[in-house]
Amino acid sequence: MTDRLLQDLVLGLAEIDDDHAASIALWTAARDSGPADFLAALTAWVDHLETHFVREEMLMKRIAYKEIAHHEAEHRRVVAEGRGFVAQVAAGRTMMARAYAAEMIPDWLRRHVVMFDSEVARVAKLAGVA
Ligand SMILES: [Fe+2]
Ligand SMILES: [Fe+2]
Repeated sequence: MTDRLLQDLVLGLAEIDDDHAASIALWTAARDSGPADFLAALTAWVDHLETHFVREEMLMKRIAYKEIAHHEAEHRRVVAEGRGFVAQVAAGRTMMARAYAAEMIPDWLRRHVVMFDSEVARVAKLAGVA
C-alpha cells in the first residue's frame, strides 16, 4: 500500500514531492505508533501538513493558480479535521483517530494529490517553475 501510494504521488516537482514524502513518513509513523506515542505522532502529522499546505499555497500564488480558493478551502478543511482527531486523542478517545490514521489519511492523501496537487504541478511546470 505504502509503496504504491508513494509511486503514484510523485509529480516531478521537487518542492511538492519532498513535502509529500515527508507527509507519507509522518502518516506511517502515526499509523504504526503505539499508545504512548500516538498523540505526538498524530500531532506531528497535522503540524507538518499545515506547513506543507502553506508552501503549496505560496507556489499557487507564484503561478497565479486559478483554482487556489477551492484548493485552499480543502486544505483548511483537512487541517481542521486532523486537529479534531488530535483533540480526541488528547482527551483519551482514540478509536476514531486510529481509524482516521489507518484508513482516512492514506485514502485522502492519494485522492488529494491526484485531484488537486497534480494540477498545480502541471501548471507550475508550464510556468517554468520546475
Ligand atoms: Fe494540496
Ligand atoms: Fe500537497
